[in-house]
Amino acid sequence: MENKIQYLISIAKKASQNSYSPYSKFPVGSALEDVDGNVFAGCNVENLSFPSGLCAERTAVCKAVTEVGPKVKIKTLVIYTPSMKVTTPCGACRQVINEFAIPNTRVLCVCDSDSVLDVPFKNLLPEPPLIDDLK
Ligand code: THU
Repeated sequence: MENKIQYLISIAKKASQNSYSPYSKFPVGSALEDVDGNVFAGCNVENLSFPSGLCAERTAVCKAVTEVGPKVKIKTLVIYTPSMKVTTPCGACRQVINEFAIPNTRVLCVCDSDSVLDVPFKNLLPEPPLIDDLK
């Protein structure tokens, strides 16, 4: 796999170590690279009102928007889950990612086995809402 992707996977795995997930005990990490090469890490942050917590990928998106601004565009998003099968982003995260995705945004889901899902984001949210009409 490309060096940049290996790097993003290492960032996502490292971020999972900071996860606050006492309720699910499922520490997830993510790494987002924007089109300018900036990299943002994210982890899931839960609370007693489980499952209203924040997923790792949404944390990374919120960090990217905070640091770069509302025009940030996602080039690549890596999600690491501590499991033997990959986990794909939940529906709420897909909607959030969609706000900052470009036509070739790439999503990679990795885990503790060699299993990898490497897909264009558009495959994860077919027929997305036409958000440009609302802006
Ligand atoms: N989780 C993520 O952070 N990302 C995913 O893609 C799957 C699920 C989190 C949400 C919750 O804190 C825990 O994993 C269990 O669902």
